[in-house]
Amino acid sequence: MKWYRSGNPFKTGAILNYPQEMLEIEKIEKFKFLTEKDKTVLLYEINKTDYIYGLGETLGTLNKRGKKYRLYAADDPNHTPEKESLYGSHPFVIVDGINPFGFLIDYPGEIIFDVGYENKNILKIEFEKEDFDIFIFETNIKKDIIKEFLELTGKPHIFPKWAFGFQQSRWSYPDKEAINKVASNFREKDIPCDAIYMDIDYMDNFKIFTFNDKSFEDFENFAKDIYSKGFKLVPIIDPGVKIEKNYYMYEEGVKNNYFCKKETGEDFIAAIWPGLSHFPDFMQEETRKWWGEKYEIFTRLGINSFWNDMNEPSIFFTDRTAGELMGMVQNVLANKDKEINPLEIQQKMMTLSNNVQDYKNMYHEDDEGNKINHHEIHNLYGHNMLKSSADGLSKLMPEKRHFLLTRSSYIGTHRYGTLWMGDNMSWWEHMIVNIRMLQSLNMCGYFYTGADIGGFGCNASPELVIRWMQLGIFSPLYRNHSAWGTRNQEPWAFDEDTENIMKNTLKIRYSLITYAYSEYMKSVKNSKTFITPLFMEYNTARAKETEDQFLYGDSIMVTPIYIQNAKGRYVHLPEDKWLFCLMKSNEEKQAKIYESGDHYINVEMEEIPFFIKENSLVPFNESMNYVGEKEITEITVLGFVTDKAFYEIYDDEGTDTKYAENYSKLKIEVRKKDEEFLFSVNKEDFGDYESKIKIIHFEIYDEKNILHTHKIEI
Ligand code: GLC
Repeated sequence: MKWYRSGNPFKTGAILNYPQEMLEIEKIEKFKFLTEKDKTVLLYEINKTDYIYGLGETLGTLNKRGKKYRLYAADDPNHTPEKESLYGSHPFVIVDGINPFGFLIDYPGEIIFDVGYENKNILKIEFEKEDFDIFIFETNIKKDIIKEFLELTGKPHIFPKWAFGFQQSRWSYPDKEAINKVASNFREKDIPCDAIYMDIDYMDNFKIFTFNDKSFEDFENFAKDIYSKGFKLVPIIDPGVKIEKNYYMYEEGVKNNYFCKKETGEDFIAAIWPGLSHFPDFMQEETRKWWGEKYEIFTRLGINSFWNDMNEPSIFFTDRTAGELMGMVQNVLANKDKEINPLEIQQKMMTLSNNVQDYKNMYHEDDEGNKINHHEIHNLYGHNMLKSSADGLSKLMPEKRHFLLTRSSYIGTHRYGTLWMGDNMSWWEHMIVNIRMLQSLNMCGYFYTGADIGGFGCNASPELVIRWMQLGIFSPLYRNHSAWGTRNQEPWAFDEDTENIMKNTLKIRYSLITYAYSEYMKSVKNSKTFITPLFMEYNTARAKETEDQFLYGDSIMVTPIYIQNAKGRYVHLPEDKWLFCLMKSNEEKQAKIYESGDHYINVEMEEIPFFIKENSLVPFNESMNYVGEKEITEITVLGFVTDKAFYEIYDDEGTDTKYAENYSKLKIEVRKKDEEFLFSVNKEDFGDYESKIKIIHFEIYDEKNILHTHKIEI
């Protein structure tokens, strides 16, 4: 790994462990470094055979060639293909060519990545300032690029085990009765679920860290009751603090100088959900501490799961943008300014929100008292908000793992929690966006992530929600969320048949909890992606170009249906033989061996297609209503063995922070000797955790598609 520095970069906090040696940017290899009048540029000549992956949360294909990306956090709910920015900035790239390499840029302002868009053979990276660090990972082994990236930026956050269960959300369940109804529906209908989200309506007038005491009267008992049924609540947290006399967050923030400023030194003001608001200055340690402590109103009730939203930060409008617009409108209406074309007004309206000039008018102060213009470090706002939440929760509930989502993120935010992919739509096109982004975000350390299942904006059809819920089995974060005013998309929101399909789908997810949790924990330990694109494992052009399939852990390849009315799809099976599994439910499944190559598979609406790799095993447990409802004492190992296969089940208590000391490993081996199979299990417990698994059933296929069963009692 080589570290080059240009100018005097801002200390973003993204990098945990700097390499020993820092080199001057002028010495950089692979890139041309240019300083122009108002920008700094890095140029890389793209080789014909290069595939360029990475950039985390961005639209477009997995191979980033042919598009321009603007890394500048934006609250844009309209994720159409031409869009250049989403909510985060993840300037980490893997160039997969003759000699693969990766690079990471640490620069908190706007970066333009033109990946062969203006000139198809040039990757052009532009910065407004010359101050940045770039790290180049020159190992030829692609997986090692990720390892080195995580050595620099830290390991992903360890989520509680229940995070691998299903999560139901809606903007908004308006009151506690609505949430109670959702909860009882899940339990009465025997549909598994672990968490219910609380969107902005739980607050008193959208004032952060308050409760609406009418619609959420006696919040404490309501929360207790929900938790007693095995659910977690996940309240939303927005950064904007309403300007209102005697509102404690406002008064404390103003008094202690916790808010971002204007150039003149007064507190910066913008309109957001609660109306005119101030924005906490998360660059300051004191502010972060203050904010982090406020979670106490939840943690005293045992709630330590949250989603941090609107933290680009999103701005609906300011007096400046609204004033300019109103002035123009008034002039036209009064017939004063005949020069103004109504089209200009219409265009002006589009610039009301998230206006760059507003970000330029906003200031932070760092811990040394230096004034920093927000625009220059714009991409750090969500990161520092999440850091504040994570640090606060670690102090309030030190022995418990927290669950934190953020909308805006930077490099390294994965240490504190994760991101969800923002406001997608109930469009089929957004399922493939979801599939690709799971892969590109995993590369950037976000092993646990996901999109709004079923789509956030627009109305979803039952078929779309079914197919998306089926994909969701293999999405680490499995959250169904939808926007205000759109069609509901809970499992029972459509017809009975749809409900049954979703119920069976969810039960399969819960039967894979042992596998999912084991694979996640091993991925973090080994610094290896949990969701892995095919290019990372296989070196053929066909594998590098397959973007609509991915590996989920070490044993499974996922091949989702993401096209409306499709009754099947083409799949690419690289290198090995594969066991094709088609599951309708835990009880009804088909399995068949496929040779490597390209195949068409038939898939009915209620079927979930995936493949198990040759010489691999997958443990299934009994499904349950929520993670931890029952102890898992019995599992069934499904596998495809032509020689020998090994699987290690990792387990721990699932909620505490002592996972490094107290855990268990169950090592399962299946060997094929002539026509016989030999089975062995070896149990290793560490600290005071003990594996609870007592019975293992085996369902093993050989290359002739013959099923061999066996049972071991431990
Ligand atoms: C934003 C969030 C969305 C949330 C809504 C209301 O659009 O991205 O998830 O439901 O705000 O809070």
